[in-house]
Amino acid sequence: MIFSRPTTSAPAEDGPVQDVSGNLPATMRALVLPAHNRDLAAALDSLRVEERPLPEPGPGQVLVRIEAAGCNPSDLTCLQGLYPVPAAPPLVPGFEGAGVVVRAGASWLGSWLLGRRVACGGGFTVGGGGTWAEYCLTDAEACIPLSREMSLEQGASLIVNPLTAMGLLDMARRGGHRAIVQNAAGGQVGTMLARLCADARVPLINVVRRTLQAEEMRAAGQHIVLDSSSPDFAAELRDTCRRYEASIAFDAVGGTATALLFDALPAGGTVVVYGALDAELCGGISPYDVVFQRKSLQGFYLPQYLKEQGPLRLRDMSHKAQRLILRGRLSTQVRERVTLVEFPEAIKRYAAAMSWGKVILVPGRNSSLAFKAPPNPVY
Ligand SMILES: NC(=O)c1ccc[n+]([C@@H]2O[C@H](COP(=O)([O-])OP(=O)(O)OC[C@H]3O[C@@H](n4cnc5c(N)ncnc54)[C@H](OP(=O)(O)O)[C@@H]3O)[C@@H](O)[C@H]2O)c1
Repeated sequence: MIFSRPTTSAPAEDGPVQDVSGNLPATMRALVLPAHNRDLAAALDSLRVEERPLPEPGPGQVLVRIEAAGCNPSDLTCLQGLYPVPAAPPLVPGFEGAGVVVRAGASWLGSWLLGRRVACGGGFTVGGGGTWAEYCLTDAEACIPLSREMSLEQGASLIVNPLTAMGLLDMARRGGHRAIVQNAAGGQVGTMLARLCADARVPLINVVRRTLQAEEMRAAGQHIVLDSSSPDFAAELRDTCRRYEASIAFDAVGGTATALLFDALPAGGTVVVYGALDAELCGGISPYDVVFQRKSLQGFYLPQYLKEQGPLRLRDMSHKAQRLILRGRLSTQVRERVTLVEFPEAIKRYAAAMSWGKVILVPGRNSSLAFKAPPNPVY
């Protein structure tokens, strides 16, 4: 559950389906993945725009008219069949988006959400499919109402990355870690974590994979940036971790990157794997580090983290995330906005250079979405 129920009185749970508008179409357009494909380019080429019947929300469900939806690395792994989604192809992908709740099945939360602008998760667990469509059937509890000031574009990226960045910093604080190291630092989660750490005055060692990225991050105000393409990277990483007493590492990459972080941390350090951008097995970890140095490997998975927080804290987190987005601290950098037909090619451009920001799908035929320009990345 993402959003805790309001305390106002509301209609009974067995009421009829309610509409915000009597003019909803009978069908919607959606991007459909016919089959998983490990070859990402082939999976993207296989996406088709299909006309599908407009889904009817059941009890506890809502229909969201999607105004904006993004694409994150998890969406890519979903296309490849590497992400545990409770739905088999043919499926409509898309883990998050934002729009307006236009129809609600019987439930008081659904009735309360009707007509509201929300960020929402895809409806895979309720048989509703994802957000890469004009409409998405989802669980009312997977919706977060957006504040009046929030744009739908930033709302489309409210859940996955901002809450992850907040969750990672929370994990480091609860563990009593004085400094952090992260790889994939030029991506959206990395940038968000960098801003949160700057605000909290927590030293952060940023690792990026390109020299230009490292220069850009330094120019933007990040003090500690290492380039993993440098020949001396392993030694530099080890020295820098010692100097700042970094004892926790957030690893979005996997493969040999995990072992490099593991090796660089001092005794008692923890590597938290939360992504698999390299799509390779985490290899090369020394058993001596585990046994004699008491180093450990953990995972972070946002849905599990959110489940553990409880409804009140989740509500606070979603309010705080929106405030921080509006202040530019957890805002998402957007590189282009495209239609359903253009989305697969735009995703290929994103996947080729991810640090340049996200592509945003605007699926509506007559979208009235007025985009606000995203704030510049500032650390
Ligand atoms: N566990 C969870 O619950 C959870 C939740 C949210 C996000 N995540 C994970 O967080 C990670 C970052 O997501 P994001 O949305 O911030 O990504 P993003 O904005 O798309 O950026 C990805 C970053 O990683 C870099 N990168 C890509 N492949 C790499 C590789 N093989 N080695 C090193 N760096 C690489 C990219 O650099 P280039 O510019 O050079 O391409 C870019 O800077 C992803 O792994 C995602 O799955 C996990």
